Amino acid sequence: MKNIKLSPSILSCDFRNLEDQLLSIQRFGADMIHVDVMDGRFVPNITMGPFIVDHCKNISSLPLDVHLMIQSPENHIEAFAKAGADWITVHVEGNPNVYRTLQEIKAMGIHPGIALNPGTPASSIVNLLELVDIVLVMTVNPGFSGQKHIASMQTKVKEISEMINASGRDIEIQVDGGITSETLPAMYLAGARVFVAATAIFNHPQGIESGISLLRGSIN
Ligand code: DX5
Ligand code: ZN
Repeated sequence: MKNIKLSPSILSCDFRNLEDQLLSIQRFGADMIHVDVMDGRFVPNITMGPFIVDHCKNISSLPLDVHLMIQSPENHIEAFAKAGADWITVHVEGNPNVYRTLQEIKAMGIHPGIALNPGTPASSIVNLLELVDIVLVMTVNPGFSGQKHIASMQTKVKEISEMINASGRDIEIQVDGGITSETLPAMYLAGARVFVAATAIFNHPQGIESGISLLRGSIN
């Protein structure tokens, strides 16, 4: 069994049955819960905030992987920390004090992560590698689930994988967007080990269990 982590994004879950959905992904072997936070400014969509993270914390014992697609994320770190985030990932774009924000996340005992949009080069995060525990490479434009995977991001994942090796630090690469059993293997080969999926898990026609086992089975 190859060593990958799955982080189902609750953006596509059935919110009428949040508890049941979270317990299902845990039972079927998810490794973390991905919470997509959007503010209608950094991205066109508006989703959820610390309130939902707090709910997830009360329901599940899985680590909470919070992906902030918001302007001025530094103003909200404390609220997400209090709500129970275990990982907080912020974007490098439009974030002039990102180094400081990552330091603050780390100081709160939370794993810091840095995310890059599809148009942002790998080189933009080279000076942040000394602070982060995870790099999130977006494989769609952030904002919505159910979009088409951008396969050319494989080159960026490879480049970041080499940068991480050169840094000597233990940093995971996460990919997010259009991850399915068809698209996952190429990202794995490039060096990604943490896979976010909303549609392929929560909207799988045969249910969550099949969605999770198809993703895992795609590289074994
Ligand atoms: C997109 C979000 C993703 C999204 C993934 O902005 O960051 O986490 O929910 O959805 P799928 O897996 O459907 O592409
Ligand atoms: Zn995400």
